[in-house]
Formats: sequence, structure tokens, C-alpha cells
Amino acid sequence: MKLLITGGAGFIGSHIADHYHAKSHEVFVLDNLASGHRENIPFIDEDHFFEVDVCDTEKVTDIIKLHQFDVVIHLAAVVSVVDTVNQPVKSNKVNIDATLNLLETNREHNPQLKKFVFASSAAVYGNNPQLPKTTQSIVQPESPYAVQKYAGEQYTKMYHHLYDLPTTALRFFNIYGPKQDPNSQYSGVISIMKRKFDNDETFTFFGDGEQTRDFVYVKDLVNAIALVVENSETNGEVLNVGTGNQTSLKDIFSAFESSYQKTVDYQFEPARKGDVKHSVADVTPLKEIGYEPQYTINTGLEEYLNS
Ligand code: NAD
Ligand code: UD1
Repeated sequence: MKLLITGGAGFIGSHIADHYHAKSHEVFVLDNLASGHRENIPFIDEDHFFEVDVCDTEKVTDIIKLHQFDVVIHLAAVVSVVDTVNQPVKSNKVNIDATLNLLETNREHNPQLKKFVFASSAAVYGNNPQLPKTTQSIVQPESPYAVQKYAGEQYTKMYHHLYDLPTTALRFFNIYGPKQDPNSQYSGVISIMKRKFDNDETFTFFGDGEQTRDFVYVKDLVNAIALVVENSETNGEVLNVGTGNQTSLKDIFSAFESSYQKTVDYQFEPARKGDVKHSVADVTPLKEIGYEPQYTINTGLEEYLNS
């Protein structure tokens, strides 16, 4: 298969690229390196790497026209909630306009497309307290990021219903694993905790540490995407990607202590404004197409912390 991964030099995209490249598929990456790194994908040669902004409609159209990809996995995005709060208009262009353009370009110029996957987020659920979160749950976007992800997934879904484009949108829950960038205070909490343990620094719990998340090891996410890519029954669907299990931050911290055989200082600060207390995905629809997470939080952390 010939695949295009937008945002493929980032944390998640580089794992997807690795998966398909190792299976001898032809993988192309389009990334402007805004938050990704060329070093994340050393196995992609220059002929398969486009250092292009996904908002550059002309270049993106030329690439789609020329290569006629079987599969497009669209991950390129302004991923930081804070960046979308600070720059709502600019992030809208990347997260919504470029998504719509990519769908349209595929509709117009790529008749042999087999699957288009869009990376949405559990952020769309916001503070809806209903658990588990199902795709029937009411959405409550609370940031430009969440609005933009919701718009992107709805356009993705609509392009199937209106134009029969083979699309699936996936709401990723809290993904963790190697290559996740820990350098912002809003990075995924597990990557931050790893940095603190590596450097013997103080970890800050925002809130009481009892909050829970559905943490997904990145390899389980890759397997979920691979299943969806092969499954035409998911066309026009929006699906959660979680594990169906929730783990508290305090339990994650204990697992780090066991793995590192040491502890680090920690402190408590008030919960972040708008923070969700508990989050867990209903993954029944994904399981119906054969998804079964291969990693528990303990085995995922063990692999991550020893990588
Ligand atoms: P990441 O920052 O590592 O990856 C995003 C990639 O997109 C980067 O390589 C970046 O350089 C690229 N990019 C950004 N703007 C671009 C542009 N204008 N043109 C071309 N490339 C551009 O983040 P990630 O965690 O790997 O996220 C991948 C996708 O998954 C994103 O769409 C994100 O919103 C979504 N997501 C991630 C999580 C998570 O837990 N990590 C959760 C929900 C959704
Ligand atoms: C995630 C998304 C975010 C989305 C939100 C909505 C990631 C990285 N972020 O945020 O884009 O808007 O879901 O569902 O996936 N924490 C600490 N100490 C730290 C860092 C974090 O206590 O140093 C806490 C946070 O306050 C939060 C929990 O850890 O309660 C998880 O934080 P984080 O990894 O940022 O994920 P979400 O808040 O779920």
C-alpha cells in the first residue's frame, strides 16, 4: 500500500510510519516540523519526506495528484490546547481548514483512496461527567482545540455521507509512549513524570492525584489504526480509541517508583481550571472490529520506561 501520514514526524505519526514501513508498505510523510522532528523517522528517505505545511493547498494538491495514495492518515495539527487558546484563528487554519482541504483534494483527485483517517481527541467530551464516554455522549468542547477537533471529525464523517469518501475519525484518549515530547507543562502527564524521574525533579500533582485517565500505549493505538484502515465497515464512523480502563495519577506515580526503584519529591497544587476528574472510553465499537489492547498500564509503562 502507498500511505501518506501528515504529521508523521511527530510522536504518534512516527510510530505509525514505523509500523507500515516495517511491513514493507510505501510510506510518505508530510510534516512542517512545527512540533515533530526529522530524527523521529530516520527510516523515511528524502524522496518520501515532504517538509510542507499542510495549509499549503497547492503543494498538498500536487502531492495527492501525483502519488494517488491508498491511505491518508491525517495527524498534522496544532496539538497544544494552550497554543489554540493563544492563536484561535491561526490554529483554526491548520486544524479545520487544512483538514477540509485535504478531504476535498482527495475527493477531487484521488479516486482510488481506500481510507482516510482523522485524528480527533477525547477533548471533544470536555467536562461531560458521563462515564464511560461513548460517541453517543454529548460533546462539550471547552477550548478552540476541542472545537477544531470536533469540526475536523464531523467534516471527515460528512465526506463519507455526502461523497462516499472512505473516511473514519478516531477520538484518541491519553496516548503515551516513546518519543512523546515532555517539554511543555501541557505535555502528556506520563511524559512529564518520566522527565521528572529521569532528572530527580519535583513532580506536581494538579489536584489530589486521584483523577483518572484512560491511558493508551502508543502501540495499541497503532494497532487500532491498522485495523480501521483495513475495515470498510468503519467508513463514515467516529470511534473512540482508549482501553476501557482508567488509572489514577497516584497509581501511575507508584508504578514509576517501582520501575525506577526510587522516588522523587512531589507536591500538590490546585487542580487546573476546567480539569476533567475522570475519563474512560467506551471501546465496544472498536472491539467489534477485532481490537483488543495488548498492553495494560503496567506493561505499557514498563516498555516505555525501559525504552
Ligand atoms: P505531535 O506534536 O508529536 O505531532 C503533530 C505533528 O504535526 C508534528 O510532527 C508537527 O510538526 C506536525 N504539524 C503541526 N502543524 C503542521 C502543519 N501546519 N503542517 C504540517 N505538519 C504539521 O503530537 P501527537 O501527540 O503525535 O499528535 C498527533 C495527532 O493526534 C494530533 O492531531 C493530535 O491532536 C492528536 N491527538 C493526540 C493525543 C495524545 O494523547 N498525544 C490525544 C488526542 C489527539
Ligand atoms: C488531554 C489532552 C488535552 C485535552 C484533554 C481533554 C493530552 C496530552 N492532552 O488532557 O489536549 O484537552 O485531554 O480530555 O492528551 N497533570 C498533573 N501534573 C502535571 C501534568 C498534568 O497533575 O505535571 C494532571 C492534569 O491536571 C490532568 C492529568 O494529569 O488532571 C492528565 O493531564 P494531561 O496528560 O495533560 O491530559 P488531559 O488533562 O487528560
